[in-house]
Amino acid sequence: MISFTLNGSPTTIDAPPMTRLLDLLREHLHLTGTKEGCGEGECGSCSVLLNGELVNSCLVPSLQVEGATVTTIEGLGQSAHLHPIQQCFLEQGGAQCGICTPGMILATQHLLNKHPQPTLTQIKEGLSGNLCRCTGYMRIFEAVLETAKLAEAGK
Ligand code: FES
Ligand code: FES
Repeated sequence: MISFTLNGSPTTIDAPPMTRLLDLLREHLHLTGTKEGCGEGECGSCSVLLNGELVNSCLVPSLQVEGATVTTIEGLGQSAHLHPIQQCFLEQGGAQCGICTPGMILATQHLLNKHPQPTLTQIKEGLSGNLCRCTGYMRIFEAVLETAKLAEAGK
């Protein structure tokens, strides 16, 4: 049995300890917002926050989340109440096919937790572990800048 806090809720699940966190989320807990791209720690599509740090869930054995706090894209916002980062990605065209988007958004949250008003260089560094094949990145960077601008304006 693995017990941890998932998106703010205490969660206990029976799963083999070496199950990838990605599979624990998607297959055991049916949270399919976290995406699998490469499955090898290269693309960042599977990014989640583990104790506030950005990790590739395809590389994390579930035994490592015992007692930890995990945040997935489902913990940020819902379709009826989008998180400001989600809203800005939507409005700025920062999402196309959407495979990279949950990971990009969690990487953005991680970045903004550390740098509430990031420079373009900090944004590029903060999202450097997340690959996108669709957008060309500039719209994603603009979405991050817009999120930061809204936060500064208290919106
Ligand atoms: Fe985990 Fe690509 S699926 S880094
Ligand atoms: Fe398609 Fe990024 S929107 S990979």
